Amino acid sequence: MEQFVIKGGKPLHGEVAIGGAKNAALAILAAAVMTDDTVTIENLPDVRDVNVMLGAIEGIGGRVKRPDPHTVIINGSAIESLNVDYEYIKKIRASYYLLGALLGKYKKAEVALPGGCAIGSRPIDLHLKGFRALGADVDVSYGLISAEADRLTGAHIYLDKVSVGATINILMAATLAEGRTVIENAAKEPHVVDVANFLNSMGADIRGAGTDVIRITGVTRLHGTEYSVIPDQIEAGTFMFAAAATHGDVLVKNVIPKHLEATTVKLLETGCEIVEFDDAVRVIATNTVLRPTSVTTLPYPGFPTDMQPQMTAVLGLADGVSTVTESIFENRFKYVDELARMGANIKTESNIAIITGVQGYTGARVSAPDLRAGAALVIAGLAADGFTTVDDIHYIQRGYENFEVKLQGLGADIEKTSDEREAQKFRLRVS
Ligand code: EPZ
Repeated sequence: MEQFVIKGGKPLHGEVAIGGAKNAALAILAAAVMTDDTVTIENLPDVRDVNVMLGAIEGIGGRVKRPDPHTVIINGSAIESLNVDYEYIKKIRASYYLLGALLGKYKKAEVALPGGCAIGSRPIDLHLKGFRALGADVDVSYGLISAEADRLTGAHIYLDKVSVGATINILMAATLAEGRTVIENAAKEPHVVDVANFLNSMGADIRGAGTDVIRITGVTRLHGTEYSVIPDQIEAGTFMFAAAATHGDVLVKNVIPKHLEATTVKLLETGCEIVEFDDAVRVIATNTVLRPTSVTTLPYPGFPTDMQPQMTAVLGLADGVSTVTESIFENRFKYVDELARMGANIKTESNIAIITGVQGYTGARVSAPDLRAGAALVIAGLAADGFTTVDDIHYIQRGYENFEVKLQGLGADIEKTSDEREAQKFRLRVS
């Protein structure tokens, strides 16, 4: 089993380039099969979840070419199965986007009930409510979701809760429905906008993405396109927090600073200096005494739940008491016990973490419970005194491309190792 071994205590310095947004890419890949023409997608992050999604597309008969790790050419004209295998869906929740895509295109789809990161109960009732409103018969039985319609017709759909997944799934199906669909209380995340832009570049008629009312006028067919995925705001934010925790000075390049506003504001509150450029953000924390603050996760433009563990890792080192309230997923504090093994002082009461800052973390052997929590443990390890080993890094590899290589580029002593002998070699080398 691979693990990260980290010798902490070195401030991060230098520049890091951010890749394409994983959560935008996953939906865009599913949407790419909605045309029989060829689609080229660039700035694709070469991460595990994306590769699983491409496997799922090939699994139903889509043709996939990968001229380089960050470009994919997809053709969905030869799709022969409308049944997405459990093999894929158990690995990535986002393969349920194929439900919206296939239902829109073929008016029929079957997908196993999703798995994904265990961060909460994660129901899909709103996705199904949307499909039903568009006229589909939806049945959930024997572990399968089946959706089928003679014809899909536009509808007025109110989402009882802001959901990225439901917004995107309904958006895809409605694109090829007859007439006009309105999604109210839609998610406004940058990746929702990116998926809408992608579909529009294929001939869809979607307006209002990025606001809480999205209006879709159905079209009869979509055509091929070439599209570049937006930068990953969560990868960017993770490096920003790593700079803060290690008292470093890092230029995070290839970002859209507007997408990072909530993260930037919270880092300013902790006392870091932030310099914004057109497509880069510099975090300067060299002489910063980290200050405590409070944060609540909220749908965009609020503070992202996907940045919550990384923020907690930083606040654990602040000079005072902070609170972090998780309002999206009820089970996203599983990493707190692992941080405590590194010396953090955090108490959780239902969805609130009360963090009393400590002088410093101490290296320990810890386990990544999920993707973003794993990134937070790496951040803590980079800031800690001594050696940290992070196990179960397959979670981290779901969403971060070459994480250790990018951190090495910023001067971090971190190595991906596959056994104790390699880990020991690394420890001797950096001791
Ligand atoms: C997406 O998950 C992301 N995943 C998550 O990223 C991210 O944490 C989340 O959005 C919130 O930003 C992908 O894009 C692949 P939701 P999603 O539907 O779509 C409730 C990461 O680390 N809800 O916006 O599953 C739900 O329980 C991952 O990259 C319903 O009640 O999230 C939650 O409380 C992890 N019924 C809230 O809505 C539904 O039908 C928001 O969930 C759907 C959701």
